[in-house]
Amino acid sequence: MPTQHHLQTILDPPEGKSAAVRAEHADNRDFLASLADGSMQLVVTSPPYNIGKSYESRQPLERYVQHQSRTIAECVRVLDDRGSICWQVGNHVRHGEVVPLDIVLYDAFTALGLKLRNRIVWHFGHGLHCRKRLSGRYETILWFTKTDRYVFDLDPIRVPSKYPGKKYFKGPNKGKKSGNALGKNPSDVWSIPNVKANHVEKTMHPCQFPVELVERLVLSMTEPGDTVLDPYMGVGSSLIAARKHGRAALGCDIVREYVDIAQQRLRELDAGMLRTRHMHKPIYDPSLPGGGH
Ligand SMILES: C[S@@+](CC[C@H](N)C(=O)[O-])C[C@H]1O[C@@H](n2cnc3c(N)ncnc32)[C@H](O)[C@@H]1O
Repeated sequence: MPTQHHLQTILDPPEGKSAAVRAEHADNRDFLASLADGSMQLVVTSPPYNIGKSYESRQPLERYVQHQSRTIAECVRVLDDRGSICWQVGNHVRHGEVVPLDIVLYDAFTALGLKLRNRIVWHFGHGLHCRKRLSGRYETILWFTKTDRYVFDLDPIRVPSKYPGKKYFKGPNKGKKSGNALGKNPSDVWSIPNVKANHVEKTMHPCQFPVELVERLVLSMTEPGDTVLDPYMGVGSSLIAARKHGRAALGCDIVREYVDIAQQRLRELDAGMLRTRHMHKPIYDPSLPGGGH
């Protein structure tokens, strides 16, 4: 069990929900050490990219990978045998050279016996305009499982089919609808707006990920009452996604200010006051009438 010294329960479960949430101001080395083996169903996180953001000190790539590998090993220890780890990363940039972090971190997972199920491409519309290379408009999520007996349910994350009325035109099922009535598999390329200035979820954190990105992972890889962990929680986006769907959520961050915001957002969520972008909302397209909505 977590030590009370490190973990502070900040919110009791809302009425009708059994899952609690804890957002802690702590270094994840201490936080993870306080968690029991096999106690998490999903670890979902976006670690620092070692690019000199305000919350990280830039270090040689080898040291960064060593440090990440230690954190990953601890995450694997606390993961349930049927659990998943989703490591959301972009690029490290070294003297103008791009180093995709999913490539350099891949071995850290497989060395621990994890199996890659998908490399999800998260595509978004906004970012820096590069002059000496093409502007980067995607990052990735490495989805690993601990064993082959992992939890995965496609139905809650299906998206509308392109041709919902499509029917078999020959064979024994001729005339019957050929697609799944619940919609289609969302595939491994997800177009979801990133959290920039005009996004409803924007806080003062420089690189939040959108809640809807994590919702898909929570809904497909966990069951109600399971526990979701984010060891680099920032302003608590993963915890919000978990709590929205009746999962317990744990997270920590080393920056006090981010933890305060995470706790405030969680309180607002429970009060029904937190604005998050809806999972199925179409992306605004200024070239279409009404933005395509
Ligand atoms: C890319 S941001 C994550 C943002 C988060 N996904 C969100 O939506 O707010 C990485 C976070 O890791 C935190 N961090 C860096 N080193 C840490 C450590 N050793 N333990 C806990 N948090 C750490 C940083 O303060 C930063 O908020």
